[in-house]
Amino acid sequence: MKLTTELRPGVDQVGYVDYNVRDFHSYDTRLGATYNAYLIRDEKVALIDTVKAPFAEQLKRNVASLVDLEKVDYLVCLHAELDHAGSLPAMVAACPNATVVCNAKCRDALAGFFDVSNWKFQIFQPGESLSLGKRSLTFVNVPMVHWPESSIAYMPEEKILFSNDAFGQHIATSERFDDEYDLPKLLEEAKSYYANIVAPYGKQTLKALETAATLDIELIAPAHGVMWRSHIDAILKAYPKWATGSYAPKVLVIYDTMWNSTEMMAEEIYAGAVEYGAKIAKENPTAPRLDVQLMHARKTTLTRIAAEALDAAAVAFGSATLNAWLMPQLGAVLDYFQGLKFREKTALAFGSFGWGQGGPEAIQKRLEVLKYPAITDAPIKAKQRPTAEVLEQCRAAGAELAKAAWERYSADQA
Ligand code: FEO
Repeated sequence: MKLTTELRPGVDQVGYVDYNVRDFHSYDTRLGATYNAYLIRDEKVALIDTVKAPFAEQLKRNVASLVDLEKVDYLVCLHAELDHAGSLPAMVAACPNATVVCNAKCRDALAGFFDVSNWKFQIFQPGESLSLGKRSLTFVNVPMVHWPESSIAYMPEEKILFSNDAFGQHIATSERFDDEYDLPKLLEEAKSYYANIVAPYGKQTLKALETAATLDIELIAPAHGVMWRSHIDAILKAYPKWATGSYAPKVLVIYDTMWNSTEMMAEEIYAGAVEYGAKIAKENPTAPRLDVQLMHARKTTLTRIAAEALDAAAVAFGSATLNAWLMPQLGAVLDYFQGLKFREKTALAFGSFGWGQGGPEAIQKRLEVLKYPAITDAPIKAKQRPTAEVLEQCRAAGAELAKAAWERYSADQA
C-alpha cells in the first residue's frame, strides 16, 4: 500500500497509521497510533522524521510515490526516540544523497542507537533556518518535550509547525485533520497523550508554548495523530492548562480489592463525594458539576487512570492487604503517579486487612513520598468486613475530599 496526505502542494504526510499497536511501552494504545513523517518537495527535498522500524518499507514506498529517493537531500530528525527515528537507518541507506539534519544532542542520541559513522550530518543551532528553495525550516529546541534532544521545526512560508511529540494523540484513523474527527474525543486523546507522555515536563512544555505563541500558525503537524488546522486555538489553550496542572472539580477513588471489603469502602467514599457534589451543584447552579469517578485498579488501565488524574484535585487510594503489603496493581498506580509528577492532590489512604496488616499503611506512606496532603493522619481501615462505623467514616471522608477538590478548583479559577 502507498498512502500519503497532502497538506499543501509539495508538502505531504508520508508516515504510517498503525491500527494494530495496543501497547506503546505501557501506554494502552487502544485506538492504535500513527507515526507521522512529512515530505517537503521544493528545490531541495526534505523528509521530516521517520516511522517505527517495522514500517520502514511503507515509509519508503510513500516517499518514493512522490519523489525519487535519490533526490532526497535532507532527512530531518526532530527527536531520536525510535517511534520517529527507528527507520532513519533504512532511509539513510535508501537515500544516498541525503544529509541527516538535527541538533547536536540528537546526533549523540542517534549515535547511541545506531552506527552513524558513515552518515552525513548537518547540525543546526537553535533558531537556525534551512532553506529548501521557496520554503524554509526554522528549528527550535524544545528540551524534554519529550527528550533532551527534542526539537520542532517551523515553516514560515506555509505557516506550518512541525511539532513532533507536542500536540500529538495516539489515534489510528483515516481522518488526518482535526476537523474530520470528533473534537471532544480528539482533545480527550490529546489530554491522555499529554498526561502519560509529557506530564513530567510541564515547565519545559510551558517554555516551548511561549515560543509557539510567537509564531503565526495555520497548521500544526505533530508526529502522532491528526493534524490541527481548524482547532489550533483549542489545543493551544488546552496545553497550558495541562502543563500547569490546572485543577478540575474532580475526585478519583482508585482501589484494588480482594474479597470486596475495600470495594465497599471505596463505594462509600464515592457516595460521600457524589452527595457533596450535589450540594455544591445546588448552591452553584451555573458552576461545573463535581466529577467523581470510581476506578478499580485492575479493571482500568494505567493510561486511563493517568489521563483522568492529570487534572483531578483529590484522590483516594485504597487497597486490601496482601502479604502484609498493598495489592500489586494499586502499587503500580502509585509508582506511575510518582514518575508522572502531577501537581499535588488532596488525598486519602484506606483499605482492609484480615489476619495481617500493611496495605493501607503502605499507601499512607506513599502519600508522603508523593507529597500529597492526606485528610487523615492514618488510613481508614477495616478488619475483614467494614463496620457501619467504618463505612460512615468513609462517607464523611468522601465528602471531605469533594470539598477539598472544589476548593482547589475554585482557587485556580479566582
Ligand atoms: Fe513519539 Fe517521544 O516519541
